[in-house]
Amino acid sequence: MNLVLYSSKSGNTKKLADTVFAALPDPKEILPITEMPASLADYNLIAFGFWLQAGQPDAASQSALARIKEKDVFLFATHGAAQNSAHAVKAMESAQEMVPSCRVIGTYSCQGEVNPKVIATAESKPQRPPWLDDAPDAVGHPNTGDLEELKAIIAEKL
Ligand SMILES: Cc1cc2nc3c(=O)[nH]c(=O)nc-3n(C[C@H](O)[C@H](O)[C@H](O)COP(=O)(O)O)c2cc1C
Repeated sequence: MNLVLYSSKSGNTKKLADTVFAALPDPKEILPITEMPASLADYNLIAFGFWLQAGQPDAASQSALARIKEKDVFLFATHGAAQNSAHAVKAMESAQEMVPSCRVIGTYSCQGEVNPKVIATAESKPQRPPWLDDAPDAVGHPNTGDLEELKAIIAEKL
């Protein structure tokens, strides 16, 4: 059984999750991280989606990733930082390190529109977060181009 598990506060990562789910073969399930099953024994592939918080997978995702052992895993994420920026690449590497017993079969990440209130809070911090300059370009993402790119990666990797 294939499982798509995702964390999404404002809906961006959910868009990727729905796209991954549609592209996966049956049998399959999709669940928000709040409904993560106690046992993952029924699943061989887990596609896991998270958003970036302080340069890392969001806190709930970090706890969930620690519970995924010896599975094939596809990791996907959204972030305010530019796609393929050092910030985004480093965060995806951190996520991979959180599932050391798994085989990571692929990854994908793209920008996700940042809530203006979050931008305002970040602007007021004494130390400017590295993703803040990229945040204006995140408006409208993930867009259809991002979702097409993700679909192509899923088709290639699975
Ligand atoms: C509290 C908070 C912290 C964030 N920190 C980062 C960050 O460190 N790096 C980044 O690129 N984006 C950061 N963002 C932007 C989100 O990762 C981005 O908007 C993401 O697409 C949100 O996904 P969601 O809609 O699935 O919740 C942050 C957003 C919030 C709310």
